[in-house]
Amino acid sequence: MNPNAILELRLFYFRNHFAYQWKGSAAPVILTGHNGVGKTNILEAISFLAPGRGLRSAKLAEIDQWGEEEKWAIYALAKTPQGEVNIGTGRGENTGGDKRIIKVEGEVLKTASQLKNHIGILALTPLNDRVFVDGSTARRDLLDHLVAGFDNAHSKRISAYDTARSERLKLLSTYGGYDRVWATALEARMAGSAVAIAAARLEVIQRITDALESHIESPFPRPLLGLDGTVENDLTSLPALQAEEAYCARLEQSRQADRESGRTQEGPHRSDFLVIHSTKKMPAEMCSTGEQKSLLLSLILATARARASWQGSAPILLFDEIIAHLDEVRRAALAAEIKSLGAQVWMTGTEVESFRDFLPFSQHIEVSPPVSPVISREAMGRLERNRIETSE
Ligand SMILES: Nc1ncnc2c1ncn2[C@@H]1O[C@H](COP(=O)(O)OP(=O)(O)OP(=O)(O)O)[C@@H](O)[C@H]1O
Ligand SMILES: [Mg+2]
Repeated sequence: MNPNAILELRLFYFRNHFAYQWKGSAAPVILTGHNGVGKTNILEAISFLAPGRGLRSAKLAEIDQWGEEEKWAIYALAKTPQGEVNIGTGRGENTGGDKRIIKVEGEVLKTASQLKNHIGILALTPLNDRVFVDGSTARRDLLDHLVAGFDNAHSKRISAYDTARSERLKLLSTYGGYDRVWATALEARMAGSAVAIAAARLEVIQRITDALESHIESPFPRPLLGLDGTVENDLTSLPALQAEEAYCARLEQSRQADRESGRTQEGPHRSDFLVIHSTKKMPAEMCSTGEQKSLLLSLILATARARASWQGSAPILLFDEIIAHLDEVRRAALAAEIKSLGAQVWMTGTEVESFRDFLPFSQHIEVSPPVSPVISREAMGRLERNRIETSE
């Protein structure tokens, strides 16, 4: 097993970190420090080594250090199954708007999704706490996020499906009647993507379920996972081609209704990811707040195990403020699990004592309030020479 890990990290003008540097090993990393010192900001920076907008889904310009002209940048040396790679990302000098530049070994990546070919990262933060109660859209987004970790093409398929879906709705609402041949073509495009999306979701649910089932001793509650959606339900009894035809037929039948309501009634954009507390036989959204957190942690850990066995390499785990919510037994269990997974987990908390079970096999960073930007010219020059050059 060769887990993904960060070996070096440098942040520049990244929120409250003016010039932060860290160098370490592939072991887990415990970040402690007072409220507001910048622990979550460090995890957020690491999350930018994966596609997307990072842990907080922030606007990229918001991340620039308040009051500074410079744009933020981060640099990491990462250990990956392919060996060590240098990854840099930041708001480029010439990109102006809300776009970041990403370089791997000095080469600019065309799309952020290509980062998945280089490094695996999986995050769990307090922002995920409401995922079960926030309804089916939030749960489905969580599932799609997990699926994308296994399957690089998943996000692309979803956007292809969404594009065809909105083109079809636009076409159906054409004043004075629509072109039927074009509607059929768009429905065929939707169905092709829909079946691929549904199949990928079902496959990943199976992989995570296998990982959960091979791990019955855990003190964390075990979630039972399911998926309720037109195409997913068809796929459990029909071969892919027939499921595609069945969905095309449904779309054709619902043209009138979709035209009137202005929305597509059926499809993978409406599927519900079902998470059930296995011993209580209760949907996650009806469980207590603590039970929901444990179910989610259980789900994320099983996903990490499934990815480790599928990709031969555990993803880097970013666990922000997870430990504070766990009792002694669960802290010890989490430590044992992380140790056996061999993953580099980055965990934050205010008290180092909470991490007692982790410390023997982890690195500890006491995050102190960042130094003010008033540093020597010589030191700044040294940092600048190392800085990831994001301008094109
Ligand atoms: N763009 C920015 N520029 C400068 N500082 C910022 C920016 N965005 C956020 N901050 C500040 O960064 C500081 C650290 O935030 P962070 O969320 O990382 O703290 P933390 O160590 O995780 O604290 P807690 O223990 O409360 O979770 C906060 O004081 C916040 O106001
Ligand atoms: Mg924090």
